[in-house]
Amino acid sequence: IEDDWPGEPSSEYWRQELDQAEQELRQGDWRAASQRVSADQLRGSARGRWLLSRALDAEAEARRDNRLLSRAIAAYLDVLKMNERLADARLLEVADKTLERIRFRGNYLSAEPVYRLLIRRFPDVPHYYNNLTISFLMANRADLAELVLEETLQKWPNDRIALAHHGFVLKTQHKRYEEAVDAFLKALEDDVGPATEPRFYYHLGDSLLLLGRFAEAHEVHKRGAALGHFLSPSQRSLYNVDRLKSQPWWDIEKTPYSKLARALEKSWKEILKEGEKAKALYEKEKEGLKERGEWSQLDLFIRGQEIPNRCKTAPVTCSIVRSEVAASGCRRGQVKFSAMEAGTHVRPHVGPTNCRLRMHLGLSNTKDTYIRVDKETRQWEVGKTLMFDDSFEHEVWHNGTGTRLVLIVDVWHPALTPAERSTLPPI
Ligand code: LMR
Ligand code: MN
Repeated sequence: IEDDWPGEPSSEYWRQELDQAEQELRQGDWRAASQRVSADQLRGSARGRWLLSRALDAEAEARRDNRLLSRAIAAYLDVLKMNERLADARLLEVADKTLERIRFRGNYLSAEPVYRLLIRRFPDVPHYYNNLTISFLMANRADLAELVLEETLQKWPNDRIALAHHGFVLKTQHKRYEEAVDAFLKALEDDVGPATEPRFYYHLGDSLLLLGRFAEAHEVHKRGAALGHFLSPSQRSLYNVDRLKSQPWWDIEKTPYSKLARALEKSWKEILKEGEKAKALYEKEKEGLKERGEWSQLDLFIRGQEIPNRCKTAPVTCSIVRSEVAASGCRRGQVKFSAMEAGTHVRPHVGPTNCRLRMHLGLSNTKDTYIRVDKETRQWEVGKTLMFDDSFEHEVWHNGTGTRLVLIVDVWHPALTPAERSTLPPI
């Protein structure tokens, strides 16, 4: 059989050395394999370099050492420098392994040269174009992703994965919502195909909401829920634990958080003072959720951790929050003051997860301010707490006067187990 590794040594001895190293690797003896293939005589052998990369990789894994992993990735990339002499199947084998390790390392930009050579070898396969796009998006380089998307859609105008990602970039980078909707609608036509993912239904619905096309948005939300992409048409968080009880508004007394609520209510005047004194530290809301007005926030805790030194500016508030670890330690939530100016409208939106419940303590200027969660609209009262699940669609209006201040305290959903609270990835 003709050997498909280029630079295979002509001497029987060195070929056997490579076979031997291969067997050692299979048995987990990366030390022996690495030594054996490091011989000068095997330098020009692609198989030798491949085995050396894999030995480094195995060592990195055994030692859980990211610097070694980076060296292994560099070694794999080195094998790929011989790509023109590698047969298709070998090229794919090496490229797949390289890409898998690059993704694991989280260094997405270094995937580019690998995809470029796959694209050169297989110019008729949109998959490699699309995965390059995804790598660029993972690396936060939407600008580069866009260039690939343009190329992809020129070649395959109906490629659903490319259309969906184009919709995503048009919406999130350029606020070109109409074009985004058109791209998403094509990508998700008939609810079939590889782009039918929760996040694309989410962004399609959200683009329609941004355009004020509410009836169409609702249809998309119903479609998404019917497909199991959303918990329900109005509960559209994407990071969920499925079994959790779902309701828009919660009666705090029926949760384990009534003690926390009473403590907050009892100290509301001091909490208000702390929130007002720190005015200089507030930051403008920048997620584009408000349709008009002014809205700023002061974070105290995010992802279950205090913002360094922040509690010095709000000691009473923080000490009450800390009395409930499901609040101070809620890694899928925040604790923050939220200041909203008169005339503000926050458009319908959903939070990212159903794993938290959101408590609000009214602090000032709550007259003629409203919060709708799903179908029910309520009002804040100074010194009183409310609790809702912000994974449901909600919307806020300040039709009154003065700055409405509330303290927002997220708590773990009561049905989450201690194990879930400590292992769910933070948001
Ligand atoms: C929200 O959570 O989106 C709003 O309730 C925040 C706020 O300040 O009212
Ligand atoms: Mn919200």
